[in-house]
Amino acid sequence: MKKTWWKESVVYQIYPRSFQDSNGDGIGDIPGIISRLDYLQKLGVDVIWLCPVYESPNDDNGYDISNYRGIMDEFGTIEDWERLLDGLHSRGMKLIMDLVVNHTSDEHAWFVESRKSKDNPYRDYYIWRDGKDGQEPNNWASIFSGSAWKYDETTEQYYLHLFSQKQPDLNWENEKVRREVYDLMTWWLDKGIDGFRMDVINMISKVEGLPDGEGESKYKDGGKYFMNGPRIHEFLQEMNREVLSKYDVMTVGETPGVSPEEAALYVGEDRGELSMVFQFESMDIDSGPGGKWYVTPWKLLDFKRIMSKWQTELDGKGWNSLFLNNHDQPRMVSRFGNDGQYRKESAKMLGTLLHTMQGTPFIYQGEELGMTNVKFATIEEYQDIETHNMFKEHREAGRSVEDIMASIYSKGRDNARTPMQWDATEHGGFTTGTPWLVVNPNYKEINAEEALADPDSIFHYYRRLIELRKQHEVLVYGKYELLLEDHEHIYAYTRTRGDERLLVILNFFADPVTFELPASVGYRSYERLIGNYELPEGTRLEQLELRPYEAQVLRLR
Ligand code: NOJ
Repeated sequence: MKKTWWKESVVYQIYPRSFQDSNGDGIGDIPGIISRLDYLQKLGVDVIWLCPVYESPNDDNGYDISNYRGIMDEFGTIEDWERLLDGLHSRGMKLIMDLVVNHTSDEHAWFVESRKSKDNPYRDYYIWRDGKDGQEPNNWASIFSGSAWKYDETTEQYYLHLFSQKQPDLNWENEKVRREVYDLMTWWLDKGIDGFRMDVINMISKVEGLPDGEGESKYKDGGKYFMNGPRIHEFLQEMNREVLSKYDVMTVGETPGVSPEEAALYVGEDRGELSMVFQFESMDIDSGPGGKWYVTPWKLLDFKRIMSKWQTELDGKGWNSLFLNNHDQPRMVSRFGNDGQYRKESAKMLGTLLHTMQGTPFIYQGEELGMTNVKFATIEEYQDIETHNMFKEHREAGRSVEDIMASIYSKGRDNARTPMQWDATEHGGFTTGTPWLVVNPNYKEINAEEALADPDSIFHYYRRLIELRKQHEVLVYGKYELLLEDHEHIYAYTRTRGDERLLVILNFFADPVTFELPASVGYRSYERLIGNYELPEGTRLEQLELRPYEAQVLRLR
């Protein structure tokens, strides 16, 4: 695969609202981020992905944008943002911005105009339809519960909103909309940013006629009519031609529901679309038939199958992104590891996995500290709109509060959004005021100050993982081969490039287990590159007793 800087980078995701407050209003802000740049540099990450900082009424914490060229008051000013960009660049780091253009806020000037009259010049910027027999134009469910349509009295039509009612979908069929998007992208690129993370970018092209979805519930999943729609690749190629190809940037598309075959169309090296996409197959692994809120236990065999499929099917064709959590997902140590007795061991084991696969690793803020999920006693303490809408809908359908709270404890987005835990002072050093979302009560034990002072911490382990990728090209580009495919407790694989060969061994559970090296993997000697337990001198690999959540990365000779 062609070598590029973004394949060799490690990205760190910042959710600005929860990162660092600088003015005591309880909300993270850009000056707060600037005050933590040395911390990020110490970790060694190359690129920062900044979740939306644009003007927004915050119905969905900035994913509802009312002005693409302005900074949200609570976060600071454009001058603050420029200082952030300079601060990153002067430390040798890059910045990618969130591009949210499947929808805007209903308070965006385009929508304010659009809803005024049917002949308004902005009417066709959005998707307006007549109702059908006194009902919504079709039966699609919003991803945030209820119908995906909202009736607007002024013009007696409905508008489409795949997310909240305050997030009307843009009409990408309208060339003027596409021009507007390319212009705003160019505006930010000319300021010197290094790329974009593109919010639900595979939803921008909808099937003509917006056909009804199928399913049991009142409002139905219309995904197959708005995900990977008929013109998606045409739009992205146009965007690339008009904008992206003129800059040396990285792009990562958020693409729920995409298979490796489809992903190859988005990221194929010769297709002129995106650098990489986020796949969600591994994130759906514990969803029951009723969807994400009906949690079922995940199995390592499924996890290995999914991860391996993406590793092998994109190899030689396009690039992978690597992540196990973000601002929409529960904390990875609580979900795939053990956030009790083996928190440190399991967080390091999962980090080892992410940094030893082919692709670009994404670290979500606090992951490097092993931050965990949270359990607030009541729904009132939660802030997320998705969580609140779901609570209401499931209550109306008769589900018990206890049951719903259990779903929120394992899947709610606020698990990831509790403020960064910087030190053991009140509110974890995040704010001197009242935080917008309560800090996880475990901040006294789990915080950055403690991690920086402990040479054996998850933070320092991550620092070494990031360094290793810089030293061994095989970690970035090497070919991946799964070992022990049917083992239910161990995840093991090799990475090979030229005559460099690495063996990665991971015990995914708390029970000790014996690793037996397959005969196909011969070696004379090995060098241990990293691991979360010491390996006594002279340990042979033919039969290795793995301790709880043990991870070892070995270079074979
Ligand atoms: C995906 C984003 O990651 C999520 O936070 C947001 O709510 C939706 N897209 C809508 O923009």
